[in-house]
Amino acid sequence: MNNLSAVDQSSMLNEVVSGLSREQKQLPSKYFYDQHGSDLFEQITYLDEYYLTDCEKEILKENIKEIADYIGSNVMLIELGSGNSYKTRFLLEELSELSTYIPVDISEEYLLKTANQLRIEYPRISIIPVFADYTSQFDLPVSDSSNQKQVVFFPGSTIGNFSPEEAKAFIDNIATITTNDAEMLVGVDLKKDKAILEAAYNDREGVTEAFNKNMLKHINRKLGANFDTKKFSHNAFYNEDAGRVEMHLVSTEEQTVSIGDTIFQFDEGESIHTENSYKYSLNDFEELVSKWYSVEKVWTDKQGYFSLQYLKKK
Ligand code: AVJ
Repeated sequence: MNNLSAVDQSSMLNEVVSGLSREQKQLPSKYFYDQHGSDLFEQITYLDEYYLTDCEKEILKENIKEIADYIGSNVMLIELGSGNSYKTRFLLEELSELSTYIPVDISEEYLLKTANQLRIEYPRISIIPVFADYTSQFDLPVSDSSNQKQVVFFPGSTIGNFSPEEAKAFIDNIATITTNDAEMLVGVDLKKDKAILEAAYNDREGVTEAFNKNMLKHINRKLGANFDTKKFSHNAFYNEDAGRVEMHLVSTEEQTVSIGDTIFQFDEGESIHTENSYKYSLNDFEELVSKWYSVEKVWTDKQGYFSLQYLKKK
C-alpha cells in the first residue's frame, strides 16, 4: 500500500508538521498527488470551468507547425512532470524529427509504466525516463550525438505553483543542468477576470473540492493522521495583490488533529493554505526569466487566457 520509502515518509512528516506549525497553517501542494489525487486532477482538466487545459491544447493544435519549427530536428525533448497526457502524445506524434524523449517525474512506478507504453507507441524515438524531483538538482542523460539540442517542455502552468522567488530558483536550476544552447517551451497561465479565475478553482461538480480534501486523506494514509475531511471546507479565491489563486481548507469547527505524536489545534474558520497558482502578465513573465532566458515567441489561445512561450538562453 505504501509506496514511499522510509526516508521519503520521514521527510513528508517533517514537511507536514512544520507547515502545520506555522502561524498561517500550510501544506505543500505536491501532496495532492497520490494515485487518487492524480486521477482527480485529470478529471479537473476535463471540466468546463477549468479553461487551462483546453486553452493549452488549442494553442498546441493551432500552432503545431510553427512550434515544431522552433523545436527543430535532432532534439532531446525533456518533459518535466507527468508524461502520460494527451499533450505529450500530440507532440510526439507531430515532431517527426524528434530523436530522444526524456520524461522526468517524481513517481517512479508511473514513470516507468508510461515510458514502456510510449516505447511501444513510438519505436522511432529513444525514450529515457528520469526518476527525479525536478525542483531539486538532477542529472540528465548525455546526448548520443554532439549536435543534439535540448528542449525542456514544462506544460500546464505548473510553474505557477512556485512563488516568483521559487520560480527563479527553479529556472536557475534548469538553466544550470541543461546545455548552453538548451531551449524551453513553457505553459503559463495569464492574468484575467477574477470571476473566470475563481470559477476554474470552484467547479460546480465539486471535483476541485474533492482534489483539495484528498490531500488530508493522503496524509492520513501515509502518516497515520486523523483528519476528518467532513470538518473542512474548500475555499479558493483570487488574491489580486499577490497575483495568485489560493486554495485553502477551512476548519468548520474548533478541533484537534493528531499526526504521530504531534497534536494540532484548529479554531473554527482557521485555514490550511494548500496551493498557490500564480497568474502572470506577459511582461511579468518575461521579467521573471530575464536573467537566464529571452522570450522568443508567445502563442496564446483566441481568448488570450493562456500562453505557450518559447524561451532561448541568453
Ligand atoms: C497542475 C498546478 C497547474 O494550479 O491550476 C488545479 C493544479 N489546482 N485545480 C493549477 C490545480 C486546482 C493546477 N496545476
